[in-house]
Amino acid sequence: MNKPTQQNWLLYCRPGFEQDCAQEALRQAKQQKPIIGVEQPAIIADSGYVIVTLNQQTLNYRELIFARQLIRLQQIIATLPERDRLTPILDAIAALPGNFGTLWLEVPDTNDGKLLAAFTRRFQPLLENALREQGRLLDDLRATRLHVFFPDKSSVMIGSSDPHNSADAIMGIARQSMPVEAPSRSTMKLAEAIEVFMDKSEQTRLLRQGMQAVDLGAAPGGWTWQLVRRGIRVTAVDNGPMKGVLATHPLVQHLKQDGFKYAPRKAVDWLVCDMVEKPSRVATLVGAWFVAGWCKHTIFNLKLPMKQRVAALDSALGGIRKQLDEEGINYRMSAKQLYHDRDEVTVYLTKTKG
Ligand SMILES: C[S@@+](CC[C@H](N)C(=O)[O-])C[C@H]1O[C@@H](n2cnc3c(N)ncnc32)[C@H](O)[C@@H]1O
Repeated sequence: MNKPTQQNWLLYCRPGFEQDCAQEALRQAKQQKPIIGVEQPAIIADSGYVIVTLNQQTLNYRELIFARQLIRLQQIIATLPERDRLTPILDAIAALPGNFGTLWLEVPDTNDGKLLAAFTRRFQPLLENALREQGRLLDDLRATRLHVFFPDKSSVMIGSSDPHNSADAIMGIARQSMPVEAPSRSTMKLAEAIEVFMDKSEQTRLLRQGMQAVDLGAAPGGWTWQLVRRGIRVTAVDNGPMKGVLATHPLVQHLKQDGFKYAPRKAVDWLVCDMVEKPSRVATLVGAWFVAGWCKHTIFNLKLPMKQRVAALDSALGGIRKQLDEEGINYRMSAKQLYHDRDEVTVYLTKTKG
């Protein structure tokens, strides 16, 4: 398909963010080595995926904000026969080296993709059984995954992902269910952020009963709900009302104040912030909380502008890094456009030991 010095990478993203996803991946690759002799594949607007062609550079999934999944693309079949899709797919997989831990059949996160899901559900056991018979499928979650991605019903892209450098969820979507008691759908954003950014041991260590948190832009209370359900005491700052169980919850103190002016009387464990504001303004605020020692960990959202989204994020996140580096603070920061995010990205920042 490609010259041996070229490697195609398939990345899934939120439909509408293909340019941002490709721009960020190419930049990461170019920071390792210039990309030579490659014409980049065309970007299909609103398709929910992009392909980038690199030389020997590798991509680091965790450093990519817009990529939901990262796949080393190995085969493309542009036209599948309608009557027998299985044989050409098995032939293509036969040409790939090694065995696979799991098989994921995937579609884009678009309306057309949803229509294909019924087909992939029927097709999955056929392909899985055939691969098992051939001894290619190991049922080992730690081994390389095999992805069979249908951009539409008549074509397929086949590739593999490394469980240590990819999302651990089919289609790269850590889907959350809506808890009945939570007062807003935003609650799923914080639930997803906790699952995506923190491993199980970190979740147990850093989200404990008796901890203290501040939620800036808290109303109607979806994020606060995620914290109080873990036994964390929350100061909820918002001029708007807290709703449902949170209006009178014993662990919640609601303050009708401006989140940009509020200062805690004592340092807290957590700051969460979902205020709709310019990314640079929120970033400066979060940086200032860390520098002042007012919190140890934070999850916050940055609302994206319509244009120059990668540049706006660079500037906001770069601003935080500068603030913390100047003060000699050790930290770990990760940012992702989560499945439950729309025109926004979510950032996790935590203090680490020196
Ligand atoms: C997206 S909503 C937050 C939703 C909330 N995280 C939840 O899960 O229910 C944004 C909130 O930020 C609040 N907000 C915007 N600017 C603010 C400010 N300067 N100070 C305090 N709250 C602010 C708004 O009143 C609004 O309730």
